This record gives sequence, structure tokens and C-alpha cells, in this order.
Amino acid sequence: RNFKRQMECRIDIEGLNAPFLAIYESLIPAEEEKAKQKQLLTLLEKLVSKEWPKARLYLYGSCANSFDFSKSDIDVCLTIEEADIKKSEILLKLADILQSDNLQNVQALTRARVPIVKLKDPVTGISCDICINNVLAVVNTKLLRDYAQIDVRLRQLAFIVKHWAKSRGVNETYQGTLSSYAYVLMCIHFLQQRKPAILPCLQGMETTYSVTVEDVDCAFFDRVEKLRDFGSHNKESIAQLVWAFFNYWAYCHDYTDAVISVRTGNIISKRLKDWTRRIGNDRHLICIEDPFETSHDLGRVVDKHSIKVLREEFERAADILQYDPNPCVALFEPY
Ligand code: GTP
Ligand code: MG
Repeated sequence: RNFKRQMECRIDIEGLNAPFLAIYESLIPAEEEKAKQKQLLTLLEKLVSKEWPKARLYLYGSCANSFDFSKSDIDVCLTIEEADIKKSEILLKLADILQSDNLQNVQALTRARVPIVKLKDPVTGISCDICINNVLAVVNTKLLRDYAQIDVRLRQLAFIVKHWAKSRGVNETYQGTLSSYAYVLMCIHFLQQRKPAILPCLQGMETTYSVTVEDVDCAFFDRVEKLRDFGSHNKESIAQLVWAFFNYWAYCHDYTDAVISVRTGNIISKRLKDWTRRIGNDRHLICIEDPFETSHDLGRVVDKHSIKVLREEFERAADILQYDPNPCVALFEPY
């Protein structure tokens, strides 16, 4: 492998700005879609509060972190303090309630890794997953949304990367590739590392927002409207950043020892985290530290086979961006 290969970017790279921005714009959900999501959430709130007056519903995941594509499903978290009832019973009860209100395809998946109720709303056409008390996901959703407001290049880069990953079939955790959440963290970390930096490290700044969830202190700076100029010293275009992102993951990342950490804004060592060997099913072949659950490696789903697939896809993307005469077509070619 051409480890740490130094490369100069192709000279006509700026020609890719317009097509990348066009793809980004075409994937952004329309205002009316966001309105329909709110409408569905309001309906669900009404149904839930009849049964559990103190319960609350939160949107999380891409529909709330601003990295969602048009026509996405929505993720909802129900918070409820009924300590004496088991999660599976709540889910079954919830499924009952939803079914009797004419929601479609209602299904309680009580044995999944994250147990949920699935449903489809016939009025808005939106599908929805509801989980219970997954508050860390609500908080990491806020962190991603706050980062997205600092510099628009994060959202643009993450859209291109997510679109690439979905087109190339490497956004499938059940097949050992990475979640959308992991890809967005990779983009945030990458922009924290640019010189000059395009994103700050919100968890390394003064605390203006703090909650404790499941014994995890989640604290960071969230007055992001004060950071709107943060990245302005860096003039890199979206085309240069997409090129550099893939070049980094293809040829520069140290897969043997490096862990990317949005929490610190830095690379940390696998040795420091004791992530140097396989423990149970966690192989740590590509390491992405969760910003709050720091013992949690989002690369844990990647195995001996899928690491090869992933790295070959990063190299393919980097090489296309470097040499292909029509990179925008080749990059997103269905696998
Ligand atoms: P798309 O559905 O692909 O548009 O993206 P998404 O952001 O909804 O992605 P995904 O299905 O990967 O995850 C949904 C949300 O669950 C994320 O935004 C996170 O808030 C949360 N999440 C996903 N995976 C993990 C994980 O391993 N740990 C934690 N703590 N949260 C996770
Ligand atoms: Mg989702």
C-alpha cells in the first residue's frame, strides 16, 4: 500500500464544485417534507400522552441532525420513567395504541439490538422507528446538528460522503460497513484537522450545555451562532475537501494505531484505549470513538472482510477524484 503517499490534487479539481453542490442541493429535503415530519410527530405525541401523560417524544438521527436526505424515514425516541415496566412491554403497548389509530405496518421489534416499534403513517407517507429512553442518541444528534451550523462545508461534505457510501453499498452496518452516524463523525473530525481548522472541538471549549445520561457527562459549547466565522481563514472549496477526505482515508490514515476522536479534536492512540486487539466481536480495524460513550468504537462492526471492502472503496474514490475524466459519474456508480 502507498501508506502516507503524498499527492498533489489534480489541477482541474475546482471544476467539481458545481456538480458536488448540485448533488448536495438535490438531496436536501424540501420544507414541506420537514413540515410533514412535524405533523406526524404531533400526532404521535397526542397518542402517547393519552396513555403516558409524562412521556415525551424526541426526534433524533438524521431527521434531527440536519444530515438527512429527502424522503428519509424518521427516528423518534420516547422517554418514559416507568421503572417498573419492562421496555418490551412498553413497546407492545405502544404498538397497540398506534395500531388502533390506523397507522400502518405497525410492528414491535422487541428483540432487536435497539428495540423499536416501526410504523408507516398513511397520511404523510412517512415511515418511522420509535425507540425507548435512548437519550444518548438524542444528545449526540444535538452535537452533530450544532457542528453543522458552524460551517456549511460540513453538511456539504457529509452529504457527498453519505451519498457515495449509499451508492457504493458501504453504509450497511449489518454487512460490516459503517453507519451514517460514523461517516458524519469522520467528516467532523476531518474538518477539525484541517490547517487552518474549519471546525472547532466543541467538547474542548467552555461548557454551555450539559446533561448526564446513563452516568455519562455530556458537556460541550453549544452557542454555535458565535462560531459562524470560525472556519473563514480556511478557503478550501468543497471539491478540494472531498478529494482530501478520500485521500486521507485511502492513503494517510494510520489504521494500525490511530483512533479518530471528535471529543478531543485529535487522533488518539489505540494503545491508550486498549483497542489493539480483538475483544469479543470488537476488532477495532478502523477506530472511530463515540463522542460521549468513549468506550464505544463505531468501527466495531467492521470485520476482516469488510475492512478490505471499505479501504478498497476509499482508494477507488481517491483514485477517481485524482484521475478519472468524469469523476462525478464514476464516484457514485451503483456497486
Ligand atoms: P440515515 O438514516 O442514513 O440518513 O442516517 P442516520 O443519521 O439516521 O443514521 P443512523 O441510522 O446511523 O443512526 C441514527 C441515530 O442513532 C444517529 O444519528 C445517532 O444519534 C444514533 N446512533 C447510531 N449508531 C449509534 C451508536 O453506535 N451509538 C450511539 N450512541 N448512537 C448511535
Ligand atoms: Mg435514520
